[in-house]
Amino acid sequence: MEGRKLPLTVGESPLDAARPVSWSQQTMTHLASPIDVNLRGSVFGGVILALVDKIAYVCATRHADCPTVTASFDQVDFRAPIEIGEIVTLQASVNYVGRTSLEVGVRVSAEKVPGGSPRHTNSCYVTMVALDEAGKPQPVPRLIVEDELQLRRYQDAVERRKARLALAEERRQRRS
Ligand SMILES: CC(C)(COP(=O)(O)OP(=O)(O)OC[C@H]1O[C@@H](n2cnc3c(N)ncnc32)[C@H](O)[C@@H]1OP(=O)(O)O)[C@@H](O)C(=O)NCCC(=O)NCCS
Repeated sequence: MEGRKLPLTVGESPLDAARPVSWSQQTMTHLASPIDVNLRGSVFGGVILALVDKIAYVCATRHADCPTVTASFDQVDFRAPIEIGEIVTLQASVNYVGRTSLEVGVRVSAEKVPGGSPRHTNSCYVTMVALDEAGKPQPVPRLIVEDELQLRRYQDAVERRKARLALAEERRQRRS
């Protein structure tokens, strides 16, 4: 893939439709409030995951142009606590599309206001699946990768998908 000319259209969908990454990119902010925090005043991990799930839904549904559901979250590591009163910013982007699934990458940062500067607290990779009216997976538009950053994210997502499928197969064999 190195040396390929951009923009590049990727995906396994039989649909002709294709949308650029920028079409569905999202930003969301949240003020960390008393209801979000533990007794130490740090935001619960589950609160962050709920925000990640919501922005991933908006991003994936905008790309797919139909309802989507969360199929999986990759492992999430919380690198730094988020304190009450901080502004939490989430940025979401479609990294990869398969036939009916999409990987959405979400970057979370937090910032004291006034006077603070944003620090990266965690990143999550969420797999969303597009559904038809009967609730069955349906094809999603292909993805137009427009720049080097998007290409790197796409290539990393391809590797994560391979690892996910290999793990699922390993678990399936262990159970059978
Ligand atoms: C997600 C769901 C629709 C997948 O249904 P399914 O019958 O397994 O569908 P398929 O086997 O045809 O897979 C469809 C796509 O999902 C992907 N997928 C399925 N399970 C996955 C998982 N656990 N992790 C990542 N991707 C997954 C497949 O790789 C496939 O992608 P592709 O079409 O791009 O190749 C189904 O498991 C479901 O409805 N789960 C509940 C979703 C939900 O309620 N989420 C809210 C959180 S509780």
